[in-house]
Amino acid sequence: MHGIIFSELRNYVEATHGKGTWDVLLTKAGLGNKVYMPVREYPDAEIVGLMVTASMMTGLSVAHLLEDFGGFIVPTLMKTYGHLLQPQWKTIDVIEHTERTVHAVARVKNSGAKPPELRTSRRGKDEVRLTYTSPRKMCSLAIGIAKGLGKYFRENITASENSCMHKGAPSCEIIFRKVRTTPPSQVGDAQLAHSR
Ligand code: HEM
Repeated sequence: MHGIIFSELRNYVEATHGKGTWDVLLTKAGLGNKVYMPVREYPDAEIVGLMVTASMMTGLSVAHLLEDFGGFIVPTLMKTYGHLLQPQWKTIDVIEHTERTVHAVARVKNSGAKPPELRTSRRGKDEVRLTYTSPRKMCSLAIGIAKGLGKYFRENITASENSCMHKGAPSCEIIFRKVRTTPPSQVGDAQLAHSR
């Protein structure tokens, strides 16, 4: 796994649980005082070990932690790779095009990086279906990243997972939808029109 994920995990742990917690987590995960560089690759087993240990320390599920962490890393991902995206793209567009833009580049630039294969089908302006497959089975991270993109673009994004590799499915199918809120003035207009 790409070092940027590990270095961001450290930032996430320290931001949510205070400085010093990262060292405790490393020790409990059996990783001593390991240093992760954002430009290198590290074994997948280490991110799994860190997540499982963090789950035991907090009492929160690995899925919950992965989703929360996914939201946290979006600003850094956008800062590092945002130039690969079209300026007019918003959350649903970025999800639709991640595979051919940022993940494709991450794969070529970092020989050891294996970002997941994201297959998408656009189902209208506000909706995209993601088919996610990866031996890492980190669909919760995908949901967290998508919701984090929503926050980044100030959009309300919902996710509903219809099938999941953790439940024996061959892939995870997730529908991401942008929820539009009708401005109060328009609700009033609609009600007035209805009562006429
Ligand atoms: C600005 C947008 C994005 C950037 C820069 C980005 C970049 C990356 C990078 C560098 C990795 C590590 C790959 C490795 O070490 O092998 C990764 C992993 C991952 N990405 Fe993205 N990504 C982006 C958007 C997304 C989106 C929109 C999704 C799904 C909704 C997604 C889902 C994942 C998942 C689940 C992983 C974990 C690895 C795995 O499942 O195998 N990413 N991404």
